[in-house]
Amino acid sequence: MSALHNTFGGPQGLRVTLFGASHEPTVGVTLEGLPAGIDLHPDDFEPDLARRRSGAPGTTARREADIPHFSGGMLECKDGSFVTSGQPLTITFDNQDIRPQDYEPFKFHPRPGHADFTAAVKYGVEATSGGGIFSGRMTLPLVAAGVLAKRLIAPIRVEARLIEVGGIPATDEAGVTAALEQAQADGDSLGGIVECICSDVPVGLGEPFFDSLESLLSHAMFSIPGIRGIEFGDGFAAARKRGSEHNDRFIDATGRTATNGAGGINGGISNGNPIVFRVAVKPTATIARPQETFDFAAREMRPLAAGGRHDTCFALRVPPVVEALTALCLAQ
Ligand SMILES: Cc1cc2nc3c(=O)[nH]c(=O)nc-3n(C[C@H](O)[C@H](O)[C@H](O)COP(=O)(O)O)c2cc1C
Repeated sequence: MSALHNTFGGPQGLRVTLFGASHEPTVGVTLEGLPAGIDLHPDDFEPDLARRRSGAPGTTARREADIPHFSGGMLECKDGSFVTSGQPLTITFDNQDIRPQDYEPFKFHPRPGHADFTAAVKYGVEATSGGGIFSGRMTLPLVAAGVLAKRLIAPIRVEARLIEVGGIPATDEAGVTAALEQAQADGDSLGGIVECICSDVPVGLGEPFFDSLESLLSHAMFSIPGIRGIEFGDGFAAARKRGSEHNDRFIDATGRTATNGAGGINGGISNGNPIVFRVAVKPTATIARPQETFDFAAREMRPLAAGGRHDTCFALRVPPVVEALTALCLAQ
């Protein structure tokens, strides 16, 4: 069986390693390459952790407190505050509301659209236990790492928001609620689109070709489970425009442009305008509605009606994850 590699970032700069699994005792992250002197309070993590947490309509019934535990890498100061020491820092979270037994049926009857099949072939069938490391729960320690990364990249600000659910604009709250309720009633799921804007970005981040800023951000975004696409600025719509419509005319000596069809990046390098991109989040794979799919134990096609607790639309929880990965990418 293969080893499981789960580190983001090279030997220089910030390196992030994820460990644990959704239905094991803990999930966590180790950050290496954090500079000394970042001061934090454990409460600083809560706003982003809360935005990712389940509880809203359309999210899973699983309930977790998401209390971060810190080890190494920090000098304790007063009033519960910490300062990073420059050593590797580990943040863990206990998994309290676990039900690994819900995932037993998927070992030999893998869920279409999930990682049960690929994980079993690559790492062995036990790697699929409780959804393994492929669960959206792994994005919890990533969001915690993102809180530190956001500090590192200041004054750059990263803000992501959900703009569409199942094809309905997020501003149409009644329409979104009705679509979520209908999908849930059908035992089905919905996807969505998350837009991210990075402000106060200096000119010059990124390289031409292989380490273009679009390449690095795309790498970061496709590290999030369930992302199906990314577009910068005008994105795919650029292909249907003329140059005169898509070009961003300069309007001052700082390089500010009248429009931002390029999404703030030219030649792989940030141009000083806001970086704007959107990611497509797929509909949740695990659905109650029966799907006829191969049963590897019975060696025949059989209906799979997946039980367990799942988000009807996990895109609802993705904005803080997009922010975290964006900040981690820019922090490198
Ligand atoms: C925050 C978050 C929550 C998720 N919740 C679920 C879920 O409840 N059920 C599910 O089947 N997939 C969920 N996913 C998606 C799976 O983790 C993902 O589809 C799976 O790992 C397979 O990866 P792929 O879709 O990139 O191929 C979630 C993802 C994220 C980011």
